[in-house]
Amino acid sequence: MKKILILNGPNLNMLGLREPDIYGDQTLDDIKSLCLEKAQGLDMEIDFRQSNHEGVLVEWIQDAHPRKKGDFDALVINAAAYTHTSIAIHDALKILDIPIIEVHLSNPKNREEFRHNSYIEPLADEVIAGEGAKGYLLALEKLKELL
Ligand code: DQA
Repeated sequence: MKKILILNGPNLNMLGLREPDIYGDQTLDDIKSLCLEKAQGLDMEIDFRQSNHEGVLVEWIQDAHPRKKGDFDALVINAAAYTHTSIAIHDALKILDIPIIEVHLSNPKNREEFRHNSYIEPLADEVIAGEGAKGYLLALEKLKELL
C-alpha cells in the first residue's frame, strides 16, 4: 500500500475561523477526514500533519527521505505562507526524491502580488490551487496515477 505524507503549514490549523470567504468553513480536521476517506478508496495510507513552524516542516520533509527514516511514497504539501517565503523548505524539497504535489485551497496567483511566487512550484510534479478542500483529494487521485 502506498504511503502519502500530507503536510500543512502555518495558520491552516485555524481553518473554519480563518477568512471563510477565502478558505471556506471546513476545519483542517474536516479536510483530514475527507483525505482519510479518499485514501481508503484509493488503497493508500496517509499521514496528515500541520505545523506553524518552518523548522518543524523542514524536519518532517527531511525525515520523509527514503534513505532517512521515512517510508513515504509521495508528499502533498500546502506550505501556506511559507510557500512564498521559505528557501529552507525549497531546499529540503530539493533533496526529497519522491513525487511532490503542491496544494492550495485558494489560488494565490489570483490574490495579492506577494503570494504570486512559490518556492515550491519548481520542485512540484503538480500544483493544485483554487479547488478548496477538494484540491487535497485531487492530489491523492493524481498520486494514484503517478505511483
Ligand atoms: C494558502 C495560500 C497562501 O497564500 C496562504 O498564505 C495560506 C493558505 C491556501 O491554501 O490557499 O496560508 O496556502
